[in-house]
Amino acid sequence: MFPRNNPVAQPTYLKNDTLIRALLRQPTPYTPVWVMRQAGRYLPEYNATRKRAGSFLALAKNPDLATEVTLQPLARFKLDAAILFSDILTVPDAMGLGLYFAEGEGPKFEHPLRDEAAIRRLTVPDPGSSLGYVLDAVKQIRRALDNTVPLIGFSGSPYTLACYMIEGGGSDDFRIIKSMLYTRPELLHHVLDINAQAVLAYLNAQIEAGAQAVMVFDTWGGALSDAAYHEFSLQYLQRVIAGLHRTWGGEAVPSIVFTKGGGLWLEDIATIGCNAVGLDWTVNLGAARRRIGDQVALQGNLDPAVLFSTPAAIRSEVGAVLRQFGAGPGHVFNLGHGVSQFTSPEHVGALVDAVHELSREYH
Ligand code: CP3
Repeated sequence: MFPRNNPVAQPTYLKNDTLIRALLRQPTPYTPVWVMRQAGRYLPEYNATRKRAGSFLALAKNPDLATEVTLQPLARFKLDAAILFSDILTVPDAMGLGLYFAEGEGPKFEHPLRDEAAIRRLTVPDPGSSLGYVLDAVKQIRRALDNTVPLIGFSGSPYTLACYMIEGGGSDDFRIIKSMLYTRPELLHHVLDINAQAVLAYLNAQIEAGAQAVMVFDTWGGALSDAAYHEFSLQYLQRVIAGLHRTWGGEAVPSIVFTKGGGLWLEDIATIGCNAVGLDWTVNLGAARRRIGDQVALQGNLDPAVLFSTPAAIRSEVGAVLRQFGAGPGHVFNLGHGVSQFTSPEHVGALVDAVHELSREYH
């Protein structure tokens, strides 16, 4: 086994291993780039495949179609990674909560966790059975990629999944989960304990199926108080990271942790054992690098709204992000959050090309 935080395996078989190398803070000829939600509704070909599937969930549950949409952005842009097409909410769905998407309203659960009995009944799903469609998609995507670029697997964080499971869908104020957090903390800890086990088993199953890096999306951890973030989100992220396969098949499998709104806690996130920390656009990359850049790689952090501007403005903003990080390895270019459905695909192309052209002078 390789010691934690010092993976030495090299992804030698990949034709483009810049993402893996950057996540391990090894030298690359340019800064690798991928885009959160790179396969999504801003692409007309995605909308066509989704229409054929009938719904987002039917698309995500069909490995052939999930493979097709995973590859769509790579056919258009010179991206340095593919990300599995799926959703973080497949895990609570596999726990029996009944995920559905109400048109225009985002995700919802038929059976949210609204009483203690439901919480006590919660069990860790076996990824090999109830999430087998995701693992099949991972295997199929790996075959289709033919080692051109690495495939990133992902999961939601235990806390972010709990937000949706307890609220029953998206929320502006997290009234229900925060009421539980302050009145029945032990109940929330029980949910988070089950979620951490589920997320860990799910990510390791993705790695065993072929995922070459993994990312944990802690989208709502940033809405917690300082004390609550440490107790209810970070602690469980740490548990997940501690249990992940660090290598698979002799290759390092780096991990990325992204707490949206987590800029205040970068030092704490950097100590949990992940290889890279994802940053939203509120953080100055240079300042973040000075704070934690000798411990972990940094991923981010262009404001997705920059993509509503012009190719010239996009190029200039890309240049500013690269300049903030400065010279040397350890940067994966990305947006600070997912690409909006109202983005022009040409602007994503302008972003990818600008990163590749402008980053060479920093390597
Ligand atoms: O990045 C990628 O390309 C991989 C695919 C991916 C999706 N969702 C596809 C998707 C990933 C990594 C996610 C993660 C996800 N899902 C998160 C964490 C990241 C984040 O955005 O903060 C969250 C909170 C979810 C939950 C979720 N799924 C929401 C809130 C929605 C509705 C969003 C919206 O824009 O309406 C989804 C649906 C979803 N997941 C879509 C896609 C492409 C849009 C569904 C559609 O086609 O109608």
